[in-house]
Amino acid sequence: MVVTGAAGGIGRALANRFSAAGANVVVADLDAAGAADTAAALNAQRPGTAIGISADVGSEYGNVELIRAAEDAFGQIDLFFANAGVGMGSDPMSTPEDVWETSFNVNTHSHRWAAKHLLPGWLARGEGYFCSTASAAGLLSQIGSAPYSLTKHAAVAFAEWMSITYGDAGVRVSCLCPQGVNTNMLRAGDAAGAGPSSSVVRAAGVVLEPEDVADIVLAGIEAETFLILPHPEVLTYLQRKTADHDRWLTGMRRLQARMLAR
Ligand SMILES: NC(=O)c1ccc[n+]([C@@H]2O[C@H](COP(=O)([O-])OP(=O)(O)OC[C@H]3O[C@@H](n4cnc5c(N)ncnc54)[C@H](O)[C@@H]3O)[C@@H](O)[C@H]2O)c1
Repeated sequence: MVVTGAAGGIGRALANRFSAAGANVVVADLDAAGAADTAAALNAQRPGTAIGISADVGSEYGNVELIRAAEDAFGQIDLFFANAGVGMGSDPMSTPEDVWETSFNVNTHSHRWAAKHLLPGWLARGEGYFCSTASAAGLLSQIGSAPYSLTKHAAVAFAEWMSITYGDAGVRVSCLCPQGVNTNMLRAGDAAGAGPSSSVVRAAGVVLEPEDVADIVLAGIEAETFLILPHPEVLTYLQRKTADHDRWLTGMRRLQARMLAR
């Protein structure tokens, strides 16, 4: 299996959890030292079962190179976690174009680039598993960050499209949509004081540890569940949204106003 964004946070916890369950793991991240650390810890437990790869999944070339290196190391890729992500930007007036570009490249395009180069082998073999990490922000919205909201909605849409299009051809798809998880991304949002984003995430519900999320993902993959929701309340919010969109928007505006007033 391959896990992108596995130098820390949710990706590292997924690598640890799936390795403990017996998987060979390709640990990929822009942070080469972090990826090497994650892989070294796995190899200390189970020698020869992990490699760390420096990869930039924000380009098609980076995905091609990653898939080639992973196949060289362990053969066919049975499970690919498109987990790397960035949380950047705020409103459309002040967010620089390069922040939009990076957000789409890493949070959205990386998923379709990986799929583009995984699907030929998976369709030929009639099996393969694609799991993307989107976010509750991809089902609801991210107060304070337009780039995060857009790119994570697009990630959910792409995962749904993959499942509809290739589900009957043996390609299984899951989409992980957590709310708050105690990782560098959430902590960096707090430190930067980046609008109300991190405070909204913290106020919206319990902040889980990455290890708890990884346990839930393993169970979700074993059950082949499409939508993996470590925070069950996200399903309630989603049901409220679809039941009455206008009422839901009013509630979100109220929540935003409360956060800005803090
Ligand atoms: N922490 C949360 O509250 C939360 C909630 C919902 C969704 N998520 C999503 O979970 C995923 C993992 O994030 P995390 O919370 O573990 O934070 P994190 O910052 O610990 O992990 C993100 C990782 O992605 C890597 N990365 C960024 N750009 C990359 C690139 N171009 N190529 C390769 N790697 C790259 C980073 O180096 C980092 O190690 C992200 O997609 C994030 O959007 C996080």
